Amino acid sequence: MNPARMKNLHVIHSAYEPSLKNILFRFSFLVVISSLVFTSVSSARTQTPKPQKSDGRYVYHENHDPDGIGKFYMGREIAQVMGHQAADWLDRPEREAEEAPSLLLKSLKLKPGQAIADIGAGSGYLTFPMAKRVGTKGTVYAVEIQQEMLDIIAHKQETMGLKNIKMVLGAVDDPRLPDSSVDLILMVDVYHEFDFPYEMAKAMVKALRPGGRIAFVEYRKENPDVPIKRVHKMTVLQVRKEMAVFPLQWVETINVLPRQHIIIFRKPLSQK
Ligand SMILES: C[S@@+](CC[C@H](N)C(=O)[O-])C[C@H]1O[C@@H](n2cnc3c(N)ncnc32)[C@H](O)[C@@H]1O
Repeated sequence: MNPARMKNLHVIHSAYEPSLKNILFRFSFLVVISSLVFTSVSSARTQTPKPQKSDGRYVYHENHDPDGIGKFYMGREIAQVMGHQAADWLDRPEREAEEAPSLLLKSLKLKPGQAIADIGAGSGYLTFPMAKRVGTKGTVYAVEIQQEMLDIIAHKQETMGLKNIKMVLGAVDDPRLPDSSVDLILMVDVYHEFDFPYEMAKAMVKALRPGGRIAFVEYRKENPDVPIKRVHKMTVLQVRKEMAVFPLQWVETINVLPRQHIIIFRKPLSQK
C-alpha cells in the first residue's frame, strides 16, 4: 500500500478514534445508570412482599410479630426466649394468685423417688417444690440454655441444703438428658420458645422412660383475655398437632389453672 495512503488511513483512523472512545464512554455511562435503576426496581420488588424462605421443616418470614423470631413451625411463630434478666418476674409473689402453680403441682401427681426433668427451668420456681415432692430418692433435672438461670438455681439449692437437683446446660436443639431416664418432663411456659421444637421434642421422647409423661403448660391462646403476648401463648389444637408426629399418646388436658392449660402425653410402654 502507498505509504501516503497508509498515512492517510492512519490519520483517518486517528481522527475517528476519539469519537469511538466517546461513544463507548457514553454507552458504558448508560449501562451504569440503567443497571442502577433496575437494581432499585428489583430491590423494591423483593421488599413487597417480603421474601419467604424454608428449610423444609421451618419457614422464615421477614414480616412477623415483634415478639417472635420470624421462624415458623407448623403454622406457628416461635417466640423470643425470655432473658435471665427477667428471672425476678418468674419469682414474683403474686404468681400464686395469678397462675395457681400449687394446683399445677397437685395435678402432676408426683411420687417420691421419681426422676423429673424441668425443661426451661428458669429460676427454678417449679424445680424446688418438685424436688421436695420426689424426695431424697428422687431427682429433678433442671435443664436450661442460659447458664445464668442455672447459677441462680445452684445458689438457691445451696442455701436450701437440697441435694437432689441436677443442673443440665442444654443446647437449643437438645436437652442433653440420658436416654430413658425420666418419668416426667415438665415445660412451664417454655415450649413456644424452643428454636428447634421438632428436634427438642424428638430428644425429649428419647429421654422419657417407657410409660413416662410429658406435660406442656402453656398460656391459653384460645382466650384473648389472658394478658400475655400472642406468640407466648398456644392453643391445645396446636400443641396436639405438633406432638402428633411423635410416638406419644395424648392422655388428658387439665383445665384447673386460671391462665394456662396442662396438656399431658405419655410415651407408650412398648416404646424404647
Ligand atoms: C418463660 S421462662 C419459664 C421458666 C420456668 N419454667 C417458670 O415457669 O418459671 C422460659 C425459659 O425457657 C428457657 N428455654 C428456652 N429454650 C430452651 C431450650 N431449648 N432448652 C432449655 N431451656 C430453654 C429459657 O432460657 C427461659 O429461661
